[in-house]
Amino acid sequence: MRITDTADLWYKNAVIYCVDLETYLDSDGDGIGDLPGLTQRIDYLADVGVSCLWLMPFYPSPRRDNGYDISDMFGVDPRYGDHGDFVELVRVAHDRGIRVIVDLVINHTSDQHPWFRRSRASKDSPYRDFYVWRSDTPPDTSEEAMFPGQEDGIWTYDEKTEEWYLHHFLHTQPDLNTANPQVREAITKTMGFWLQLGVDGFRVDAVPFAINQTTLTGADQHEFVEPHDYLRTLRDFLQRRSSGTSSAMILGEVNLPHQDQLAFFGGEDGDQLTMQFDFTVNQKTFLSFAREDARPLAEALSERPQNLSVETQYANFLRNHDELTLDLLSAQERDEVLDTFAPEEDMRFAGRGLRRRLPAMFDGDPRRIKMAYSLLFSLPGTPVLFYGEEIGMGENLEVPGREAVRTPMQWSQDKNGGFSSARPSKLARKVVKGPFGPEHVNAAQARRDPDSLLHHVGRLARRYRDCPELGWGELTILDQPHHEVLAHRMTSGDQSMVLIHNLSPKSLVVPLTLHDEEKGTELIDLLQDGACAVDAEQATEVTLEGYGYRWLRVKRPGDPRLL
Ligand code: GLC
Repeated sequence: MRITDTADLWYKNAVIYCVDLETYLDSDGDGIGDLPGLTQRIDYLADVGVSCLWLMPFYPSPRRDNGYDISDMFGVDPRYGDHGDFVELVRVAHDRGIRVIVDLVINHTSDQHPWFRRSRASKDSPYRDFYVWRSDTPPDTSEEAMFPGQEDGIWTYDEKTEEWYLHHFLHTQPDLNTANPQVREAITKTMGFWLQLGVDGFRVDAVPFAINQTTLTGADQHEFVEPHDYLRTLRDFLQRRSSGTSSAMILGEVNLPHQDQLAFFGGEDGDQLTMQFDFTVNQKTFLSFAREDARPLAEALSERPQNLSVETQYANFLRNHDELTLDLLSAQERDEVLDTFAPEEDMRFAGRGLRRRLPAMFDGDPRRIKMAYSLLFSLPGTPVLFYGEEIGMGENLEVPGREAVRTPMQWSQDKNGGFSSARPSKLARKVVKGPFGPEHVNAAQARRDPDSLLHHVGRLARRYRDCPELGWGELTILDQPHHEVLAHRMTSGDQSMVLIHNLSPKSLVVPLTLHDEEKGTELIDLLQDGACAVDAEQATEVTLEGYGYRWLRVKRPGDPRLL
């Protein structure tokens, strides 16, 4: 029997919330957010309905890539606090029923990491083989650099030993040689360490790069190893170390089409990543938003592989901490989204994405923003929020690069949006200005306004959590005549819901026929008052306002649930 046969697969209907500590809440007035600051806001997060916190890297780091360049995987950057503060955060979160996952960077370290310092010191160093070196001049790899403009290739020449080392990201982020068993062991040791401190899983960074065998075999000293074995090792380790009743999860960043993602779940065996972000659905959602046409999204959802192993799950998101990448769309589709939502060059990133947050892309239209979050929570899978989304924060384009969306959390109208008492010039990042600034958008004000996005997201999160068919169920796209509308049904056992979203500003009437439903069945509106009878023969007509949305539970006669 597999361990997970008896495990609580809690992540299958969790509400995940991603926090950048740096910009969340500064408890000691130094301008930098910290662990005690976040701990003070756990009750706020519990109120929003969050059930799992994802902490972006908080490890010691020279911060050339927002902490994704780690110099000590076991440490806590003293700017954020110490291990005591970390354990206290985990304790308080667990007390409120919130699990905690942390970023695990398996593809690279900082060039300041002791492994790399030793590796570059000499060709005979025992750490030489922790990284990927080549002695011959590399070909032009400018197309492969993840940060074009900052790097012109993926190999950098190192004077000391006169060889080149591999880095898919910045040259200050050398790629680990993940084919090396010692590296694998060092990574599992890191997982063991944080699990012991109480974490419930990991968000694994840049997974396809970490098992990129082409580059590994390109460096002649490496023998071929089955790349996916590495992920199996991580998963096995995780299962051995997390208790049988509440299994820890690994949520991988695999920005690939659905069919290619399958191998990262471990196909039918499901023995690799437990979760993956669905980048296809994300990008097609934005194409659908741009066109006000639900068909691209409906197609992406329909072609998403179903019948995966029960332990696996997709994570849905609208925005994350990076650029909103559109690299899985065709060039023409990408241009459509960019032209619609990022008309100015300054709003774009590396020709492939946007450095904006969603409310600004929608010109602050509250109906459209609320519809988008309703859609997010209604999709099959687990929703992931990026901090500040729940109150409708915008970006600050004056902040360079991807950091434009990583500005201080807006708690109140006070100085620095209530994020910090430091002088504004000391802040980790500049606060948003203009219509999305803290005078207009902040958590304190949103709490007092029953119509706020914050209350809407809270309602959606609670509804999502008590509708297991959304996280666990099977999807059917329902036929109806409007291309502006996505109507889908989620079913798990005898529980079923119908979810309808109007992506356009036009008001529409959606006829729905639910075949095979017995007499007396009703559709109960879960977000507002109302119900309508279902007739197996005749279509039920549901009216949607512009950007309207409905969550309708199929209630059969005798259904005992509290609705
Ligand atoms: C992932 C992270 C991103 C980071 C990169 C390199 O894509 O999400 O922020 O820059 O990996 O670590």
